[in-house]
Amino acid sequence: MERFAGLLQQLPRAQGEMLRALHLAQEELGWISRDAIRLIARHLRVSEAQVYGPATFYAEFRHSPPPRTLVTWCSGPSCRVVGGDRVRRIFEAEFGCRLGENTADDELGLWLGQCNGTCEQAPMVWVNGRVVGPLSMVDSVKLARRLKAGEDVIEWPRRPIKIAPATFVDAEATYGSEHEHEADGAD
Ligand code: FES
Repeated sequence: MERFAGLLQQLPRAQGEMLRALHLAQEELGWISRDAIRLIARHLRVSEAQVYGPATFYAEFRHSPPPRTLVTWCSGPSCRVVGGDRVRRIFEAEFGCRLGENTADDELGLWLGQCNGTCEQAPMVWVNGRVVGPLSMVDSVKLARRLKAGEDVIEWPRRPIKIAPATFVDAEATYGSEHEHEADGAD
């Protein structure tokens, strides 16, 4: 919260900065907390209700803390044409939850995301807000298992994560070959 408060001070004190301030809160904290709303209102010199309005209007803003590790799957076209749906299915299988859900213990989540212009990394996911990609099928299995094991968790705010060279040999047996899925459309 301290870091967010400091960064907020760098934004001009103009009501037009509202969305930037909200995005900043979500990037730094993972969600729009009541304290964040209070800080933004004070900084932009508006009422808390004036911050609450846009914070709840846009579906992309979260109002509860994300799971410890949130994987956001990119549903954009560039990611999908190079295997994004395979990546989603692998995370669903490894986490044991569907897109839009958290695991039963709320430790992991697999949520829907939209293209943010980092298509050169396709197919990609965000791990706690950090872009990870491009993901091969094997990379996806490896990453999902590392996150399940609590390794390399990216805390809010972002920290980089590195994907080591693929080492899983059972990925094709488990999920099918790249060729097998090439003709897959959205499902
Ligand atoms: S389509 Fe996924 S980042 Fe652009």
